[in-house]
Amino acid sequence: MIIARTISDMRAAVNTLKQQQIAAGIVPSVGFVPTMGYLHEGHASLMRAAKDCSISVLSIFVNPIQFGPNEDLDRYPRDEARDLQLAEQCGVDVVFLPTVDIMYPSARKTTIQVTDVSARLCGASRPGHFDGVTTVVAKLFNIVKPDRAYFGMKDAQQVAVIQQMVDDLNFDLTIVPCPIVREQDGLALSSRNVYLCAEEREQALVLSQALQSIDALLEQHPSLTAADLVTVLQETITTKPLAKIDYVEVLQFPSLQPQLTNEPLVQSQTQVIVALAVHFGRTRLIDNRLLFA
Ligand code: PAF
Repeated sequence: MIIARTISDMRAAVNTLKQQQIAAGIVPSVGFVPTMGYLHEGHASLMRAAKDCSISVLSIFVNPIQFGPNEDLDRYPRDEARDLQLAEQCGVDVVFLPTVDIMYPSARKTTIQVTDVSARLCGASRPGHFDGVTTVVAKLFNIVKPDRAYFGMKDAQQVAVIQQMVDDLNFDLTIVPCPIVREQDGLALSSRNVYLCAEEREQALVLSQALQSIDALLEQHPSLTAADLVTVLQETITTKPLAKIDYVEVLQFPSLQPQLTNEPLVQSQTQVIVALAVHFGRTRLIDNRLLFA
């Protein structure tokens, strides 16, 4: 596994592998998994999926410009040695590990902003977050030049925003959304789960349980509207005293437009996302479920 810490080393690594594969009669393709490190099984599933391509590239970069001033940039968990071990086990060919100075060497005067799709959910709660995500992802796409880029659906809005950017700016690559990976008890995997104390972690299970309960709810109450479902989910989540809701929303996916207010949800003509963001102590967790997919 090649470890590249500069942009030129990163590009050279992929170019060399491509040339070797062409010489061996292989048509090369590059699969890319962008991450902020502290890798877990969810990332491992993306790295394994990227093996669909002949060359797999992982980036590990805690991107400062996607964190707000009162967010967890300084305490974001990091463990380079463990990350490299997992990447190697997953068969990654190249790991790109830039520093902040490598990614942002001078005062930046360009920002990529996707409007509308980024306006609600995490975009509303974390102003500027998606500008930071799309700006760094556009830079990474230009550095790595992938054919396919793999993203987890736990950050479903991120997938929708990046797909919109790719469409609008004609990036020549395919975005591959990958399923949410969960602990056995249902908690969606996240690097931030390490922040949770035992009691918070126990109560956080209400998120996946609430999402799981939706099928039975819609079967028992077929006239439920999006607003009704939001109310029921809010009531379920607030049975846990440590849960402080940021948002519970039911929107069309991937447009992230609101559902018609008085239409029974089961009659929806489009795919729908039920998206949750809830604080447990100092930790903000997100989870979601697509309906009528
Ligand atoms: O999902 C993440 O880990 C980050 O938002 C990403 C896509 C690596 C950009 O920093």
